[in-house]
Amino acid sequence: KRIHILGISGSLRADSTNTVILKTLGSLLPSDFTFEIFEGLDEIPHFSPGLFDTEAVTRFKTAIQQADAVVICTPEYAFGVPGTLKNALDWTVGTGDLSDKPVSVISASPLNSGGNNALASLLLTLTALGTRKNEASALSIPNVKGKIADGVVTDAHTLGELRAQCANLLNLVKS
Ligand code: FNR
Repeated sequence: KRIHILGISGSLRADSTNTVILKTLGSLLPSDFTFEIFEGLDEIPHFSPGLFDTEAVTRFKTAIQQADAVVICTPEYAFGVPGTLKNALDWTVGTGDLSDKPVSVISASPLNSGGNNALASLLLTLTALGTRKNEASALSIPNVKGKIADGVVTDAHTLGELRAQCANLLNLVKS
């Protein structure tokens, strides 16, 4: 069976730099992988305990269940994780959907800091959700604007980092 990776972008922008990073990572995966980017994060309603899953929530949970591993690539807003992404993740609290699931996190930013605060916050959330991860499961990409062109990553160093994320994720799937 081919290893299936689910990509989740924390940005809703059509020309999102984080979505470009995610798509490039998908294109770097070996041919024995399948890759899908989740669409419709903004259709997921505001989480509150006791609410029933809507169609969008079920679609989100099913996409996670069907994936062998997940890659989240997200901007940092106000030193944190975009509310849309955090809200979607909150729907999986207590469901076990992300429990022991290999998850990589990437944050690209136009700033020198490269989304480090969002990464730290997201890693805490993933710890709460019990995902499978290691020290190499997080990647910060600073100054992203100079590293992409025409919808793909052009910076050789970043391409190497994305390949390393793929390799680490594969190791976590197999461990
Ligand atoms: C930002 N941005 C930003 N960047 C960062 O590194 N740390 C931050 O705290 C913030 N905060 C922030 C707040 C708001 C309201 C906006 C609009 C932007 C900049 C952000 O990284 C930049 O817009 C990215 O290009 C967003 O990612 P996408 O949409 O290109 O993937």
